[in-house]
Amino acid sequence: MLESDIADDIVGVMLTEEQLATRLDEMAADITRDYQGKDLLLVGILKGAIMVMADLSRRIRVPLEMDWMAVSSYGSGTKSSGVVRILKDLDTDLAGRNVLIVEDIIDSGLTLNWLQQNLLSRGAKSVEIATMLRKPESAKVDVDVRYVGFDIPPEFVIGYGLDYAEQYRNVPFIATLAPHVYS
Ligand code: PRP
Repeated sequence: MLESDIADDIVGVMLTEEQLATRLDEMAADITRDYQGKDLLLVGILKGAIMVMADLSRRIRVPLEMDWMAVSSYGSGTKSSGVVRILKDLDTDLAGRNVLIVEDIIDSGLTLNWLQQNLLSRGAKSVEIATMLRKPESAKVDVDVRYVGFDIPPEFVIGYGLDYAEQYRNVPFIATLAPHVYS
């Protein structure tokens, strides 16, 4: 998928493929350093995290396992409420594990705040978070995020796993969606 393929649907490119790749290299180097000699379980949160999970995990140079969760936030429309329902749970017993949650975006922080507490309550030794994007101005709760790709303004972004109505997840860069698409 090229920028020209969705030119009418976007206002502009916010982060290019090259910028994402460079930042992923740096994040993976930090993770490799921090988990040297430790066991590591990456937990990807479906569906948005698939691209980050694929690209980040391949850059990490310590042995690791991967598992997946799907969650849905109760609430009106697109807004998180903080009450989270598990649609697909992990297959892995977390007792004593070092868990790194992998996400595409943290918006209000409510989903990740709940997830971190939930995974810790299962007896994980540590539960850290890696996210490609974060919107600090949208934060409703403080979430302790160890690895952040980019802090971005509170705009409607798509691409690199992020959707609008299930579209655009396969766009390889991050772009701002044009208002005519969602209004
Ligand atoms: C996104 C994202 C996080 C959550 C963040 O998922 O992947 O899980 O929203 O929002 P919050 O910080 O306001 O809680 P989404 O619900 O869009 O599902 P998807 O990944 O399947 O597209």
